[in-house]
Amino acid sequence: SNPSLLILPGDGIGPEVMAEVRRIIDWFGAKRGLEFDVSEDLVGGAAYDKHGAPLHDDTMAKAQEVDAVLLGAVGGPKYDDLDFSVKPERGLLRLRKEMDLYSNLRPAQCFDALADFSSLKKDVVAGLDIMIVRELTSGVYFGEPRGIFEEGNERVGINTQRYTESEIDRVARSAFELAMRRGKKLCSMEKANVMESGILWREVVTRVGADYPEVELSHMYADAGAMQLTRWPKQFDVIVTDNLFGDLLSDLAAMLTGSLGMLPSASLGAPMANGRPKALYEPVHGSAPDIAGQGKANPIACILSFAMALRYSFDAGDEAARLEDAVNAVLADGVRTADLLGEEGVTPVSTSQMGDAILAK
Ligand code: NAI
Ligand code: MG
Repeated sequence: SNPSLLILPGDGIGPEVMAEVRRIIDWFGAKRGLEFDVSEDLVGGAAYDKHGAPLHDDTMAKAQEVDAVLLGAVGGPKYDDLDFSVKPERGLLRLRKEMDLYSNLRPAQCFDALADFSSLKKDVVAGLDIMIVRELTSGVYFGEPRGIFEEGNERVGINTQRYTESEIDRVARSAFELAMRRGKKLCSMEKANVMESGILWREVVTRVGADYPEVELSHMYADAGAMQLTRWPKQFDVIVTDNLFGDLLSDLAAMLTGSLGMLPSASLGAPMANGRPKALYEPVHGSAPDIAGQGKANPIACILSFAMALRYSFDAGDEAARLEDAVNAVLADGVRTADLLGEEGVTPVSTSQMGDAILAK
């Protein structure tokens, strides 16, 4: 049977960019014999409007069964005043939590035609292709105790950085596996100089590394890592780090290369019975209410998220490269959505025209 894919377009520009991905999925079926059983459902505000909850239980169950989930974006001003328990982003958080997606892959890749677009010097970013693996389900965002407590005659705000060996082990393994498929170089970032969790992190990553003798492992303090990422990012291939540092470093790395409209991501969990990891693919950007409904959104982040699905869920790395090459070629031709406009005198294309151009390539 065909591999299965659950599509959750969500809100705002989510459905607009996902429409272009659907056309690309159809193209792979028709032209490359790569067919998927695609089902589509609601998430976020769209699900709230219909069910009074940002993710219906049936949708959650479906997400657990399929080979991969592809999500657009959730949220929008219409839902800003809702109770926290039913806010659109809760739908996304529930997916990540119940699927136990502990390994968040955020590539920072520079498409040649956009090298001028970066805020850094062209030679620093041209040809850049790195991947940050961020631990997504533990660490200081979740550790107990947490809260604001009375202490003497004032209050104290507490979060706890907490990692178990098994939590570090599984995300490290996922990063080493990734490094094996890429440049066989992994840099682990923590603050072992000042944090107990960092000491354990370094120890466990080193231990896991013994199972991957082909991968060249290095360690760096995360603050130094931030400096190195902006100084000479091409020294890295895969970076693995915890939830908090990964949040910061992946946003930093993302902006080395330009627009939010270009950035894909994957969140992976434990292998399922068929050997594929539980997986959710989504663009990094949100629902962009300021441009929603105007046909202006850049569909590339979502399209590249599907390319990641081809590579990491469906063992179709060649087909993923075919799609990425098409994106590169379109950009090289000077085709730009409004978010990518740098040069004067270039007329932006619409969301669907960008889709047309990529399909043509
Ligand atoms: P945003 O990513 O939606 O937009 C930030 C800026 O980037 C806007 O000016 C937008 O027009 C532009 N932009 C984003 N994606 C673009 C694309 N594909 N093409 C062209 N321009 C693009 O972030 P913002 O404005 O902070 O949040 C808007 C809503 O999205 C909020 O409700 C927020 O909660 C939600 N959100 C959802 C996320 C998700 O679903 N994973 C992630 C981030 C925000
Ligand atoms: Mg962030």
